[in-house]
Amino acid sequence: MKVVVCENYDDLSNKAFEVIKEQVVEKPNSVLGLATGSSPVGMYQDMIKDHKENGTSYKDVSTYNLDEYVGIDRKDPQSYYTFMNENLFSGIDIDPNNTHVPYGNTKEDCEKYEDAVNGVDIQVLGIGQNGHIGFNEPGTPFDEPTHIVDLTENTREANARFFDNDINKVPTQAITQGIGTIMKAKKILLVANGANKADALKAMIEGDVNIECPASVLQKHPDVIVFIDKEAASKLS
Ligand code: F6R
Repeated sequence: MKVVVCENYDDLSNKAFEVIKEQVVEKPNSVLGLATGSSPVGMYQDMIKDHKENGTSYKDVSTYNLDEYVGIDRKDPQSYYTFMNENLFSGIDIDPNNTHVPYGNTKEDCEKYEDAVNGVDIQVLGIGQNGHIGFNEPGTPFDEPTHIVDLTENTREANARFFDNDINKVPTQAITQGIGTIMKAKKILLVANGANKADALKAMIEGDVNIECPASVLQKHPDVIVFIDKEAASKLS
C-alpha cells in the first residue's frame, strides 16, 4: 500500500485526479469504480476542469458506483445517482448508458449488479470514520459480494449533514458492492481528509487486518494508493 500525505485537500484531489487521467489517457475504454461522499468531490472537479480545458475524453469509459441508499427514488436530490450526475457525469463527455449506480433492495438486484461489475481498472474509495468502505460496515465478511446492508447509527449520523441534519431522514439501508467486489479491482485509489478520519486511517494502514476495520483488507490488495491530508495522517506513526 502506497500512502501519500498531501499538503491539503486540493493537493490530494489533484494527485488523485492525475492517477485517473493517466489511466484514461492510456486506456480510453477504462472501467472506473466510483464513490460518492465528500472525499472525491475535489477530484471530480479536477476531472471536469481538465475535460473542459484539455479535452480529456471519457466517451468510452464505463463506471460502476459502489453504493446507493435503499428506499429513495433515483431522482431524489439525495440519491447517489443524482449525486454522480451533478458532481461528475454532467460535466464530462461520458455516455450515460455507460454509467452504473446500483439500485434496488432484492437479492436479484444485488446479483445482477455483482455480475455487471467487471474488470474495474481503478476503484475510487473514501473511508468512513468507522473504517467502512462502500457501505461495508465493521463486521462484514471480506468475501461478501454486492448485498443489502443495515446502516450503523454512526454512518447515519455522519450522513445526516446531507439530510437537513436530521438522522431520522437518513435511510436505514443501502445496496453496496461487497468487499469481495471491491477487492477484484486491479487498482484501488483511496482519498481521505480531515482529523475525523485519522483513527480509521491508522487502523486501515497500521492495524491488524480485521473485519472490525473493513478498510484494513486493503493491506492484502497488491495495488493500493492512498492520498490523505496532514490531519487525516496525524495518528500514523
Ligand atoms: C460512498 C461510500 C462511503 C464513503 C465514506 C466516506 O460511496 O461508499 O464509503 O466513501 O462514507 O464519506 P465522505 O467522503 O463523505 O467522508
